[in-house]
Amino acid sequence: MHEPANVGIIGCGNISGHYLQSERVFGKYIRIAACADARMARARARAAEAAEKGWCKPRACRVSELLADPAIDIVINLTPPQAHFKVAMKALRAGKHVHNEKPLALTMLEARKILGEARARNLRVGCAPDTVLGAGAQTCRKLLDDGAIGAPVAGCAFMMCRGHESWHPDPEFYYKAGGGPMFDMGPYYLTSLVTLLGPVKRVSGAARITFPERTITSEPKKGTRIAVEIPTHLAGVLEFASGPVVTIVTSFDVWFHSMPNIELYGSAGSLSIPDPNGFGGAVRIRRAEGETKDWTDVPLTHGNAGGIRGFGPADMARAISAGRPHRASGELGMHVLEIMVGLHKAARSGRYYEIQNTVERPAPLPAGLKDGELD
Ligand SMILES: NC(=O)c1ccc[n+]([C@@H]2O[C@H](COP(=O)([O-])OP(=O)(O)OC[C@H]3O[C@@H](n4cnc5c(N)ncnc54)[C@H](O)[C@@H]3O)[C@@H](O)[C@H]2O)c1
Repeated sequence: MHEPANVGIIGCGNISGHYLQSERVFGKYIRIAACADARMARARARAAEAAEKGWCKPRACRVSELLADPAIDIVINLTPPQAHFKVAMKALRAGKHVHNEKPLALTMLEARKILGEARARNLRVGCAPDTVLGAGAQTCRKLLDDGAIGAPVAGCAFMMCRGHESWHPDPEFYYKAGGGPMFDMGPYYLTSLVTLLGPVKRVSGAARITFPERTITSEPKKGTRIAVEIPTHLAGVLEFASGPVVTIVTSFDVWFHSMPNIELYGSAGSLSIPDPNGFGGAVRIRRAEGETKDWTDVPLTHGNAGGIRGFGPADMARAISAGRPHRASGELGMHVLEIMVGLHKAARSGRYYEIQNTVERPAPLPAGLKDGELD
């Protein structure tokens, strides 16, 4: 494929503003050529904003026009989770590679269909999050692979907040099937953990819906009530194929807490992983023996600490021309989806859920690359 690849964005809502800025960082690999939305006014508004702010110069068009445009190589699917499957299938059938926002799809059946369609057409599927390609997670990956804390034994991950109805302009989808704290934020934590520790083989969990109805306090839907359909507090245990046992809690029911984002415990020390919803952050280590008597900050060894969403599609574009696998892959997205589906199933049934679809850890990024550089 030619570089930069031409990208079309479908879904011009809240998060699209971040992706529209990615050409400024990854312009060597991707050019944002078009943006479309079921609501044409949104596509026009985002295209105008991008041009005005000097991010890129996409043309605003209808979804059908974007998909019919032979110049578009990769579709970035930024629709709500409930539309991910439909839009991804349309993009693949139009002959485009596709990168979905997380989660890849709502069900394993949908995920399998997306990957099957792509395989049949020799197209690539990518999936958010791509924050795991940033300096924070990649520095941790290098530390683990270099044996800095010995053999990983266990870990914990916490994402707890009071939900999104106080700030998101359109928050209903967070409380419907495919939403909830695990489907919404779990992908950041699970993608990070799988990148660091490898695939999960078995999960168990417990969950609850604490508030069956929520009221939107953000504009423009202030006062609208939402019937909650998905657990808003989920506590799970992940058993990794390589051995470690990790506790994960995701919640939209907690006002305040003082737990870490992610910590990993090894046979020779402990590692504190920065917020997986960011590209950089503080990496901290405490070794059982040697120079560290307390937690110590580790300088980041990798580029793109201040990264921007669009890293994954840029890596896909580069991977296609270089003939290598891309890192934020659909297979990784499907493994993470199965973990999330499995946690909900385990919580409902009170039984372990055995993960069927495994995945290899994506290749690490080389240390020392400049921002916006990939290979
Ligand atoms: N908002 C965030 O901070 C955030 C952060 C990271 C990831 N995400 C993910 O990004 C995705 C989008 O989230 P958002 O917050 O931007 O949502 P949003 O509701 O603000 O925007 C979604 C847009 O998609 C459009 N749309 C819906 N169905 C469509 C279809 N079938 N065809 C074309 N357009 C369609 C809507 O009109 C809307 O403009 C979700 O998967 C979410 O999980 C959001």
